[in-house]
Amino acid sequence: EKKGYDHFMLKEIYEQPSAILDTFRGRLLPNEGIIKMSGIEDNLSKFLNANRIVIVACGTSWHAGLVAEYLFEDLARIPVEVEYASEFRYRNPVIKRDDVVIAISQSGETADTLAAIKLAKSMGAFVFGVCNVVGSSIARETNAGAYTHAGPEIGVASTKAFTTQITVLTLIALRLANAKGTLSTSDYKKCLFDLEAIPRRVEEVLDVNDQIVKIAENYSDVANCLYLGRKYNFPVALEGALKLKEISYIHAEGYPAAEMKHGPIALIDEQMPVVVIATKKGNYEKIVSNIQEIKSRRGRIIAVVTQGDTMIKEMADYAIEIPETVEFLTPLIATIPLQLLSYHIAVMRGCNVDQPRNLAKSVTVE
Ligand code: F6R
Repeated sequence: EKKGYDHFMLKEIYEQPSAILDTFRGRLLPNEGIIKMSGIEDNLSKFLNANRIVIVACGTSWHAGLVAEYLFEDLARIPVEVEYASEFRYRNPVIKRDDVVIAISQSGETADTLAAIKLAKSMGAFVFGVCNVVGSSIARETNAGAYTHAGPEIGVASTKAFTTQITVLTLIALRLANAKGTLSTSDYKKCLFDLEAIPRRVEEVLDVNDQIVKIAENYSDVANCLYLGRKYNFPVALEGALKLKEISYIHAEGYPAAEMKHGPIALIDEQMPVVVIATKKGNYEKIVSNIQEIKSRRGRIIAVVTQGDTMIKEMADYAIEIPETVEFLTPLIATIPLQLLSYHIAVMRGCNVDQPRNLAKSVTVE
């Protein structure tokens, strides 16, 4: 049921405030100052004694894993590696008994992720699953886990599964930070309230939809698009590019903004749109200078900025303002306009957004 929306993808984009609330339910208790997740509590010592965390996933779920790398290292000071499940399984990886492996999968059926889990288990690691589909193969194969509770995701392009995966991983990172004492009790409690406010912020950011329709009108005929971001916004850039390529068939690449001068800058001319995620707390001055470098080569800039920004708004062809939040929660907000941008561009190009060519919702063969 599309509930009045033209496509499942748009419906699922709009469901994100309530999907994130469902992910919180019974788990996030800011007034009590606690996070309660049985899969974590029952295995807390495994996480606290972990030598490192290795995250395995594919596609959009791998991007959620990259966000988690920043979260776990930044908040809980646990070293993290993020691996494409397909590379991990064939690489003869070094996995020890005190490694914790987190597998992320919306469908819970991705063949490479499932094989990576079996391999890690055979080497003695504890494997924790973050899945959306209840009772799926990955949910059953893992030693413990936490569901995202996003509800069914029908559109092939993942939207609410991504933001709810990040939500679960944020809950875990905060819980571990609290248990390890890497966050003070008062900072921890503040983080819980900041997280609790995210569904409202997502609701607000959905108001950019009309502006994005207008931007999409100017970009629906491009051949290429570059997405740039730093720190927490780097995985957001990768995800923005993946969304555009998979549903609109426009070639798009995501890069860490500072890597631009090591190659992609050669592509920039007046034909090349560059989407820059340039929120206030993601190394702002550095990203401003990246934008100047693009401008001086006549690139066309679409910037995602924090509400009230003035500097970047003057430089960009289009600036999409999003509500302010603490840095570690920015991906949950900054992702939304990029989902909408790819959606509207794909619709304008006459693409089948819910079922893009050559793609399947569940990749059960390698
Ligand atoms: C992107 C997309 C794919 C999946 C990938 C992993 O929008 O849908 O890249 O993210 O195939 O799928 P799951 O999460 O089901 O393991």
